[in-house]
Amino acid sequence: MKRWLSVALAAALMICLAACGRAPEETVAESVSESEAFGQTEETAAASQESGNAEGASQAGGENDGSGSRILVAYFSWSGNTEEMASYIAEQTGGDLLEIQPETPYLTDYNECGEVAQAERDNNERPAIANLPASIEEYDAILIGYPIWWHTAPMIIGTFLESYDLSGVDIYPFSQSASMDAEQFDNSMAFIRESAAGATVYEGLFVSPSDTDAIDAYLSDNGLIQ
Ligand SMILES: Cc1cc2nc3c(=O)[nH]c(=O)nc-3n(C[C@H](O)[C@H](O)[C@H](O)COP(=O)(O)O)c2cc1C
Repeated sequence: MKRWLSVALAAALMICLAACGRAPEETVAESVSESEAFGQTEETAAASQESGNAEGASQAGGENDGSGSRILVAYFSWSGNTEEMASYIAEQTGGDLLEIQPETPYLTDYNECGEVAQAERDNNERPAIANLPASIEEYDAILIGYPIWWHTAPMIIGTFLESYDLSGVDIYPFSQSASMDAEQFDNSMAFIRESAAGATVYEGLFVSPSDTDAIDAYLSDNGLIQ
């Protein structure tokens, strides 16, 4: 049964990565062993409530979307799927797009990236961000996008959220993954809530990047598009 799930997850991973222009090189065998590891433990990474300064970083630019609130679409993407979603959402909302870039880039080899990411989750690390804006005070709403990594959000999402005072800010998480396992997305939502102290974290969006109908409906239901 476990082996079955592993093979199914590997197939899904291959489809996701193949669909993406920035897909790192990998073999089927590597995906299978990585997928097997996904099923080993069911953990939610506990986030610390530390908050830090973003001194020295450049500031995100911004255009008003016309709805009266300023929207930031911030995302982390390793192989391009979340990026596709984020670009579409920024287009629809008129929000500013910010790619969260790690100071130490993740390796392009799937297994090596997986090992680093797993250690970061297990140790509840906060990987440094290369392009952290000095301030995001100008934004009323933040759509934060990420892939599921090891059954939760990548730890760098915690780094981003914990870098600011988010009191009064509305947060809308969006994500996708190889398995599209809702429980893993729920884990990531718990992580976001813990990391975004003081913010209002709304129900997130967990759909395939190509499901633009579902994305449109979510944005519309939440008053994020006209
Ligand atoms: C380090 C790592 C860990 C992953 N962990 C999971 C996981 O726990 N569950 C899952 O369904 N997919 C997992 N995946 C697959 C990604 O969620 C999936 O490939 C996603 O589409 C990648 O999004 P991106 O292109 O924006 O990076 C993982 C991928 C990587 C690289």
